[in-house]
Amino acid sequence: MIARKTCVALIALTSVNLAFAETPGSIVSGYAVEAARTTPGFGPSAKRGFGFFTKEWGVSQKMPNCTVCHGKNLKVDGKHVITGKRIDPLAPAANPERFTSSAKVEKWFKRNCKEVAGRECTAAEKADFIQFVIQGDQS
Ligand code: HEC
Repeated sequence: MIARKTCVALIALTSVNLAFAETPGSIVSGYAVEAARTTPGFGPSAKRGFGFFTKEWGVSQKMPNCTVCHGKNLKVDGKHVITGKRIDPLAPAANPERFTSSAKVEKWFKRNCKEVAGRECTAAEKADFIQFVIQGDQS
């Protein structure tokens, strides 16, 4: 028999997890709120996100833009430009695990932005980018 206390603890843990369940939409909202602090009225734009995704930064010869690894069609696999390793599709429609952990999202934005853009990305760029990945370039 499972002790009563263990049950209570398990229920508590489950509700904490549910309360913090992250979705692509909630992660976009988080960045949008942050961006609005410096840009009042900021709203995420898939169109700007597309521009950001395909921009040629001219910083790294091997990694001039995001598409060299993630490809242009976000619903199919990408391929790492240096290691040749397969990268799962970025679009949540094709890969439900995408954008469900802000810690993971932050980790990869930090790394990829530094390599491709030569600096960290802003909250506005991150909100626009994820908005684009969710809905495609249609705004
Ligand atoms: C050198 C190859 C490479 C380039 C260039 C690159 N990425 Fe990535 N990216 C990766 C890899 C590898 C992962 C982690 C593996 C995975 O999640 O499938 C990743 C993961 C991510 C994630 C995490 C998604 C999630 O699951 O939450 C984001 C966000 C991301 N990349 C954005 C970008 C953006 C924006 C750019 C351009 C500024 C970019 N990447 C350029 C290789 C790259």
